[in-house]
Amino acid sequence: MESRMLLLIRHLLLLFLCFTYSLERSNSTGVFRVQRKFSGQRQSIADLRAHDVRRHDRILLGSGAVDLPLGGLGLPTATGLYYAQIGIGNPSKSYYVQVDTGSDILWVNCITCRFCPKKSDLGIELTLYDPKTSVSGSVVSCKGSFCSSTYGGDIPGCSTDMPCEYKVQYGDGSSTSGFFTSDSLQYDQVSGDHQTKAANSTIIFGCGTQQSGDLGSSSEALDGILGFGQSNTSMLSQLASAGKVRKIFAHCLDTINGGGIFAIGNVVQPKVKTTPLVQDTSHYNVILKSIEVGGSSSKLQTDTFQTGDMKTIIDSGTTLAYLPEELFKPLMNKIFSYQPDLNFQTIQNFLCFQFFGSIEDAFPKITFIFEDSLELLIYPRDYFFENGDSIWCTGFQNSALQSRDGKDIFLLGDLVLSNKLVVYDLENQVIGWTDYNCSSSIKIEDDKTGAMYTVDAQNISSARSLDIKGMFITLVLLLQMTCIMLIIIFY
Ligand SMILES: *[C@@H]1O[C@H](CO)[C@@H](O)[C@H](O)[C@H]1NC(C)=O
Ligand SMILES: *[C@@H]1O[C@H](CO)[C@@H](O)[C@H](O)[C@H]1NC(C)=O
Ligand SMILES: *[C@@H]1O[C@H](CO)[C@@H](O)[C@H](O)[C@H]1NC(C)=O
Ligand SMILES: *[C@@H]1O[C@H](CO)[C@@H](O)[C@H](O)[C@H]1NC(C)=O
Ligand SMILES: *[C@@H]1O[C@H](CO)[C@@H](O)[C@H](O)[C@H]1NC(C)=O
Repeated sequence: MESRMLLLIRHLLLLFLCFTYSLERSNSTGVFRVQRKFSGQRQSIADLRAHDVRRHDRILLGSGAVDLPLGGLGLPTATGLYYAQIGIGNPSKSYYVQVDTGSDILWVNCITCRFCPKKSDLGIELTLYDPKTSVSGSVVSCKGSFCSSTYGGDIPGCSTDMPCEYKVQYGDGSSTSGFFTSDSLQYDQVSGDHQTKAANSTIIFGCGTQQSGDLGSSSEALDGILGFGQSNTSMLSQLASAGKVRKIFAHCLDTINGGGIFAIGNVVQPKVKTTPLVQDTSHYNVILKSIEVGGSSSKLQTDTFQTGDMKTIIDSGTTLAYLPEELFKPLMNKIFSYQPDLNFQTIQNFLCFQFFGSIEDAFPKITFIFEDSLELLIYPRDYFFENGDSIWCTGFQNSALQSRDGKDIFLLGDLVLSNKLVVYDLENQVIGWTDYNCSSSIKIEDDKTGAMYTVDAQNISSARSLDIKGMFITLVLLLQMTCIMLIIIFY
């Protein structure tokens, strides 16, 4: 268990290394940064027009909504992650992939991967992808336009028979590398109330030949990771540019029944208030303006908000929430001032205490207020998690304790994103949310007919259930924060 804590510490350290690395423009051979579409400046009128033309094309084609069946449970004492089921290949096989709004490509473990996990303690059956056994599968050449646009130019030393390679480094220090393949993706297109029909589209994704770090271990193994980032390489961008979907998606991660809702399309119910996405950042960043503890009259007093914008990363691939020290300390002091007589104990570096009453009554609600007055309401059951009988531990983490250099990281993961409908409207570059029952349903608009269809929550069940009691905190390991950098390896 101690080594797990070391791993937890490593996460943030590497996250930071990734950040700094992607900030400086490196010229070193073979390292490319994935270019963002509107990097640097605001979009030009020509870009807007191009956007409109694409939008019209899409309307003519009639883009539909997509329902991704979801499973998993984001609690630190449970699986600590959420995964979706997709089909790849012809004939199609099922793959279970972690949904991660913090990274940019879809990849699955490849048949040629020697040390990939063969079984998973999550109780799901793992499948290795083999482009040769799929009639629609093919390896993407490094000469192709996908490769050159991903890496911003021709690939040195490339010849037609060589594959387009990739390497992704995640914030927790794990990494994956392999080559891009093209194949048919099968997904559930929403076709009516509570109804879907099978649909498919050709997409390019990674065939992972080498995984390191936690990705190589079987304890929480999945078939791969489905990055829901904004870059052109993501599944969402590819489906959108093929005119199949709009660039809007939503998730509702359920900590009560597991699973929840993960859908692509224009959510019309519930309506959510939104806040602008910060432009030209590699993650989904929004701006925090203030924090209230226990009601609107009690703003948290810190210098943080005087010194400028507080960028906050929204990341479904991370289990907990990480706050910069200058926010963490006053916030925790304020929270615990509600119960001054607690006896604290440290369990695997988590700050814990025994409490017999109702924590909902005993502790304050916290409100994070973002630009354009969008509020994120966090209940005691969200920032504390129960670990055994009447022992409660704190889910908020001090970024500074993870690593000295990562002290300013402010990242909100499943801990606070759960039990809310979170909508990412990339067409309008906003993100929004509202408290929601993630075991219920939402309504999505069908572009073609204008009809509104009900999409239900799902909980993909695993073959066997987890021994939750014995799994305390192992799961924090699966923090899949991100580094958007793709590194190409030369021969
Ligand atoms: C990158 O290359 C350009 C021109 O080739 C040079 O001006 C610049 O200093 C280099 N930057 C780094 C970080 O090496
Ligand atoms: C993809 O969908 C088309 C119809 O839209 C169907 O004819 C084809 O068989 C499907 N392909 C696969 C691989 O499922
Ligand atoms: C991303 O895709 C769009 C539309 O397909 C294209 O206009 C743009 O140049 C691409 N961006 C990069 C960095 O390749
Ligand atoms: C959430 O929705 C489900 C399905 O509609 C319902 O069974 C359940 O009672 C709801 N939970 C709450 C707390 O309202
Ligand atoms: C959801 O799935 C998990 C395991 O995958 C299971 O433990 C749980 O009981 C399921 N919940 C419901 C409401 O079916």
